[in-house]
Amino acid sequence: MIIKFTINKQKISSNTVYFAFEKEMKFNSPDHDKILKQIISNKEFEAGAGEVFSYPLMDGKKLERLILVGLGEKENFTQHTLGKAIGNLVKSLEKKKITQIDLDWPEGAASKYKNREQIMAMLVKYFNLANYKFIAYQSKGKEASFIKEINFINLPASDKLKKVIAEMEVIGQAINYTRDLVNHPSNKITPQYFADEAADLAKKHKNLEVKILSQTEMIKQGMGGLLGVSAGSQHKPQFIILEYLNGKKGAKPKVFVGKTITFDSGGISLKPGDNMDEMKMDMAGGGSVLGAFKAICELGLKVNVIGLIPACENMPSGKAYKPGDILLAANHKTIEVLNTDAEGRIILADALSYAQKYKPEFVIDLATLTGACLVALGTLRAGLFGNNQALINQIDKAGIEIDELVWPMPLDNEYSDLIKSKIADVRNIATTRYGGAITGAAFLKEFVNYPWSHLDIAGVAWSDGSKSWLNHGSSGFGVNLILKLLK
Ligand code: BES
Ligand code: MG
Ligand code: ZN
Repeated sequence: MIIKFTINKQKISSNTVYFAFEKEMKFNSPDHDKILKQIISNKEFEAGAGEVFSYPLMDGKKLERLILVGLGEKENFTQHTLGKAIGNLVKSLEKKKITQIDLDWPEGAASKYKNREQIMAMLVKYFNLANYKFIAYQSKGKEASFIKEINFINLPASDKLKKVIAEMEVIGQAINYTRDLVNHPSNKITPQYFADEAADLAKKHKNLEVKILSQTEMIKQGMGGLLGVSAGSQHKPQFIILEYLNGKKGAKPKVFVGKTITFDSGGISLKPGDNMDEMKMDMAGGGSVLGAFKAICELGLKVNVIGLIPACENMPSGKAYKPGDILLAANHKTIEVLNTDAEGRIILADALSYAQKYKPEFVIDLATLTGACLVALGTLRAGLFGNNQALINQIDKAGIEIDELVWPMPLDNEYSDLIKSKIADVRNIATTRYGGAITGAAFLKEFVNYPWSHLDIAGVAWSDGSKSWLNHGSSGFGVNLILKLLK
């Protein structure tokens, strides 16, 4: 459930939350000035990043709480600090069964940014992220979300701020929709399920048109990659096309492509058993694209944007594609398969080739492509590759603004030497395992002829629970980033 946010001079609860920076603790609470001073001088609360201190005030029968939340040193403050603080706050509110709070507007944090709107957007985003729990398969006793209402105090209401709240609620809902898609297991989220979700979305919004290519059409389009990877599965592949043309007539569309492997067993090059269950998340790229389109439709953005979702499952069987096989991609390049576990790039080859039809302004693909990206960047930043510096800069900047961080990685032409095949145009794994995230990107580059970027989200799409505002499971990374790039 989404949290209700209001801006009001009147309090709605007896729980008031104050944010504070280390060393400069100022609180907007004349009534409790003395107590707050005592708390500070006793060092009960020092405003370290993510610190939460709750102080109950008993006045006869009435219980009132002052809840202090630390943002650390002002010089080091980033949106990430805010996320950490809000994550811990939400955990402590849940423990105390508090569902409604009044929140003193953190003007100090806002002053670090261009305008109040930016920090408001982040507040709403983090609260909705932190309030999400995946409990679909637990029979009893749990609630999916806890906080119901947050009221900002000491903040003049403006139409601009109200608009930000409304917009970020739509985006927050879309992010949590994506998280559901990614968290549900592969026996529910099949390629067909994905196609049905896309078709449902189109039924609700007249600006969105969804086409789903049948296997016969895939053959006609020459999508040997998607057909090859999916051959071992009982589930038919789906090539899902979302067309949302609500911008200037004739303006070149922006295209987003999402890797959608509903389960990646590795195929004949079978993965080891440990943590194989997590490969139900190998559709996070497509999940983010679908979630973003939900928000695009609901916000009625005035843009021309296309979503391409190649969806299938990577399984071993008597019909599966095998090491040594050669596949013909939609742009007529041949791919020598040397490891069936490097399947994402093969289905993306067809989708990136297909994107050429749209004469796009740019194409961005999101993919849980390589374990090597996790090795390189960990779980904090997505790997960013591309053939166009302006687009790379734009994505980098958007990521910082909304705290979905990326990191530019190299893609010199020389890397392409590592994926040359002796008998086909390209091989699907490089001749070395070093630089695996880069050689994955170099493979994709063979299939583009427009401004393009690739986001390897293998590390950021899934949270191990170490970020306080993201419970274990899907993070929804990418949804907000796509929307930011469209605005
Ligand atoms: N889906 C995986 C990559 C992945 C790994 C995503 C960990 C999320 C977390 C991808 O299909 C894969 O298996 N990649 C191989 C490529 C290798 C065979 C060149 C890998 O990373 O090991
Ligand atoms: Mg794989
Ligand atoms: Zn994969």
